[in-house]
Amino acid sequence: METDDLGRRVADDVAGGGGLAGVRRLSGVIAALEERRTGLVEELRRGREATWEEIGRACGMTRQGATRRWAGRLRARSFGVAAASYQHGRPGYPQALIGAAVPREARKVLDLGAGTGKLTGLLVEAGLDVVAVEPDAGMRAQLVAAVPKAAVRAGSAERIPLPDGSVDAVVVAQAWHWFDPAAAVPEAARVLAPGGTLALVWNVRDESEPWAAELGALMHRSTNQRIDTWPAVPAPFGAPERLEIRWEHSTTRAGIVDLVASRSYVIALPDAERARLLADVEELLATHPDLAGRDAIAMPYLTRCTRVRLG
Ligand SMILES: C[S@@+](CC[C@H](N)C(=O)[O-])C[C@H]1O[C@@H](n2cnc3c(N)ncnc32)[C@H](O)[C@@H]1O
Repeated sequence: METDDLGRRVADDVAGGGGLAGVRRLSGVIAALEERRTGLVEELRRGREATWEEIGRACGMTRQGATRRWAGRLRARSFGVAAASYQHGRPGYPQALIGAAVPREARKVLDLGAGTGKLTGLLVEAGLDVVAVEPDAGMRAQLVAAVPKAAVRAGSAERIPLPDGSVDAVVVAQAWHWFDPAAAVPEAARVLAPGGTLALVWNVRDESEPWAAELGALMHRSTNQRIDTWPAVPAPFGAPERLEIRWEHSTTRAGIVDLVASRSYVIALPDAERARLLADVEELLATHPDLAGRDAIAMPYLTRCTRVRLG
């Protein structure tokens, strides 16, 4: 059977009697098919089995169209291969963040894009009932081991695997910039109970110390990614409340090397370039006069939180 005929038959079966129910069923299947196509593209690119040109042709697109559509998405899904470095090297969050990110009356909280559970653990320790949603299997494996008390689900911000109105608060740490906001905003609003809140959180390295500025310069040489850490959130959410917390993450030289190794743009580098960057970081840490002879290092951070409430 021709692919087009197969598509038409499947579409007719799914649409059934038509109407709004048909549109809903078709939308669910289209989203699932798109998710599967992205998975296949990801496998092909990981194994270097197909070029963007070939993938574009298979999808009826140009090479540029295919790259525009998936390259960013694949970067967003790249963290799993460095999940152990992520867990070892990335900072957590200051305790004071919980009061800013989650309203006092909240009980059930969704940690969306939960990664290895850096924020999930704090939420559980605060006595909240936490469900953590994370698309990457490698990150989820670390999360389940690190925070056994959280309910962990596979899923994404664009398709949250939770019923309507089922949580009091959604928190997104260090991940909102990877989401498609056109789908993630209505999904977050859908799973929130009336009056629920959405908090977007980022850790920003405070580069006021010279060694931290030099580390930042080394890291920036491999990326031009700029993240808006004070984002606007559209309707149905209301005006933002914003908070910044200054704190220090206690780490080691090996921890800082893992911090760098777990950045998505470092994961994506060709092997030789990644090895050179990590060697340069090790040399900076070993030779900078402010760090010489020290293994315990206090890494300065600013944690930024933007919280909005369903209107
Ligand atoms: C930088 S990590 C942050 C993890 C964790 N929240 C933290 O604070 O350490 C970004 C996470 O977002 C996840 N992610 C990427 N795209 C996503 C999407 N569309 N929906 C949900 N999570 C996504 C990645 O798999 C990764 O675990």
